[in-house]
Amino acid sequence: MKREAEPELMNARNQVMAYAAGDFSLGEERFIGFISQFLRKKGISLSSDDLIVDLGCGPGNITERLSRQWPLSKVIGIDGSQEMILRAEKNKELNKLKLKSTEKIRYICADIKKIKLMEITAKKQIALLVSNSLIHHIANIDDFFLCLKKLSTKATVNFHKDLRRPDNKEIALELKKKCAQKYNKILTNDYYASLKASYQKDELKQIIKRNHIDSLDVLEENNEYLIIYGNV
Ligand SMILES: C[S@@+](CC[C@H](N)C(=O)[O-])C[C@H]1O[C@@H](n2cnc3c(N)ncnc32)[C@H](O)[C@@H]1O
Repeated sequence: MKREAEPELMNARNQVMAYAAGDFSLGEERFIGFISQFLRKKGISLSSDDLIVDLGCGPGNITERLSRQWPLSKVIGIDGSQEMILRAEKNKELNKLKLKSTEKIRYICADIKKIKLMEITAKKQIALLVSNSLIHHIANIDDFFLCLKKLSTKATVNFHKDLRRPDNKEIALELKKKCAQKYNKILTNDYYASLKASYQKDELKQIIKRNHIDSLDVLEENNEYLIIYGNV
């Protein structure tokens, strides 16, 4: 199936509300589990000095999970959509009992293509650089990898999960049908647009190669997701 781009930012209020109402917990839990397992294997433990950054954080689902998993560390969520950031702040307040340390979570409204490391942290070091369902939004995919290079130091471990574009339209329509059984029309249409805009493993590997970041690996999860991980 040929790739079809979709807009970068999710700005519309009804779109943000539909997304925030979705339950993506299974995939989110698996992603956090993958990150934890990787760090454990590498003998990396995060302390109060460490900073975690969630790019394209949306309503803060992953940002909050990262904070729950590593409550000592600061977690910053960045999104270019003011509506999404408002929603993330609201969720932080709503979930404050579940979150061990809300004061450690901060949100910034900014374009990930333009933001500089010093605007995020005076320490100029990010321990974990994470994103979920962001890659397919970026209009020029090379900009995403430029951003990773700009924000990473040698110690930064990167984890970026996204949808995998189905092999053909029939599979994409089947997935859309499944989504429609659970969610409203706005979220279903957004999900279908995202499926069409996402990449396949070989495409991402080629893009990584052309950006000279061979240290990054790409893993396929259940034919539906891709995870890029490693140091930059
Ligand atoms: C599909 S949502 C994913 C939200 C969140 N990561 C999650 O897993 O629930 C993608 C988010 O990326 C944001 N985004 C897209 N392009 C961006 C950019 N260039 N800079 C900052 N945020 C961006 C959108 O506004 C949207 O909130």
